Formats: sequence, C-alpha cells, structure tokens
Amino acid sequence: MRVSYIFPSIALLAPAFLSSVQASGAITESMSSHDDFIIADGYGPDRWGCSFRDSQVHESGAGTQITIGKDSDLKPFSCGELIHRQEDFGYGIYSIEMIPSSVVGQVTSFFVIANEDTEIDIELTGLNTKIAWMNIWHDHKQNPISINLPFDAADDWHTYSFEWRKNFVTWSVDGNVVLNRSDIATTPPDETNYRLVVNSWTQVNPEINIKWAGQFKYPNRGTPTSQFRNMRYRP
Ligand SMILES: *[C@@H]1O[C@H](CO)[C@@H](O)[C@H](O)[C@H]1NC(C)=O
Repeated sequence: MRVSYIFPSIALLAPAFLSSVQASGAITESMSSHDDFIIADGYGPDRWGCSFRDSQVHESGAGTQITIGKDSDLKPFSCGELIHRQEDFGYGIYSIEMIPSSVVGQVTSFFVIANEDTEIDIELTGLNTKIAWMNIWHDHKQNPISINLPFDAADDWHTYSFEWRKNFVTWSVDGNVVLNRSDIATTPPDETNYRLVVNSWTQVNPEINIKWAGQFKYPNRGTPTSQFRNMRYRP
C-alpha cells in the first residue's frame, strides 16, 4: 500500500560497484543477505498500526523473514520493509517467492512504487491466505482485484510475479497467468523513479476496508512472520 518513501541517504548507502546490482539491469536476490537492500527504520504511515524497525527484518538461511514486534516508539507494533538499492526499475518481469503470515491483520507485500505516480502490488493478507490481491495504485486510486489461489499461501513457498509493460500488467502465480489488466494506466518509468520493495505490516484501521486484511491483534503464542526469497527482475 502507498507509503511516502523518502530516500535521503541513498547516495551515501549505495556504492556504485555493488556486485549484483547493475544500473537498470536484471537482479537476482536470494534475500539471504541484505547487502543490496535498504532496511526501513523509524517510520510508517499514520494509518498503519506499526512503524518499520530494522530489528524486525531478519536474514535467514533461506531468504528473509519479516516479523511483527512491539519495539516501536511510535506505534503499538513494529514491522519491516526492504527496499532494493537499485533506483530505476522499469518495464519487465518481477517475481518473488513468499510465505505470508496467516495472522489476521498482517499484510505481506511485493511491489514496485514511484511516489505519487504508480504502484503495482501483490498483497497477501492474514485474513484469508487462499486469495492474493493484485493491485495498481494510480492517480491516487487503488484498483485491487482478488484472485483465488489453488492452495493456502501460508502453507508453503509459491512464486508470485507480474509482468509490467507499457499497455498492460499481467500477474502470475507459480508461472500461471491469473490476471491481465490494460484498463489502468501506469506512469512510464522514464518519467519517474520506481523502487522495488517487500514489506509486512499490520492493519489496525480500515485500509481498503477492514475486511481486506482484518484487524491485527498480537497473538498469544508465536511471532507473526512473513518469509521472502528469490526476488528477481528481468527488464
Ligand atoms: C495481456 O493483454 C495485452 C493487451 O490486451 C496483450 O497484449 C498481452 O499479450 C496479454 N498478455 C497475456 C499473458 O495474456
């Protein structure tokens, strides 16, 4: 969902020679290391129940885990986000493997975003992990469509992808096309700066509506966790 991304220190954080990052190039990230990512820390949209803390983003042997915690100074909960250091994503094919949290109110997202222009999303919510939300934000409007999944996304790794072209966006799950839209415009990538992001956060107030993700309450047992691995982009 839309966040005002502020990247004041990108130049300081991103040396030009990062090995697996080529300017406007393809990327392949196992996500077992976070060298190519900026870890969000210390902010979060007002309407969310959490603010991003780097303490909630974990490298694991098999990718990245984002957890929900309670160490936010600003909000009831802390949550996590990784922003790829490459600054100029464009048309092409984006994919990732995810296992979303099944805790009601927790959102697990993979998206490209250009502030105030366009966002193309895949979102899984803990309220119902048998559907995926495919969304385009454009012109300050969301255009979400829910897709029934032939599995429970919380049970295992699956591949979620979208192909973004000038005149359409096609979403796929495990390589099968599930949605193709040409009815929503996107801002051309040469007119703005698209970033590639994953996050997990908590809905406490209606976003699209409360029935979208449900209202988050911290569970009595366990740590709410979403998992990500094998992020790819091919122009
Ligand atoms: C999606 O729709 C566009 C425009 O109608 C078309 O060019 C493209 O081939 C379609 N993609 C798929 C995978 O069906």
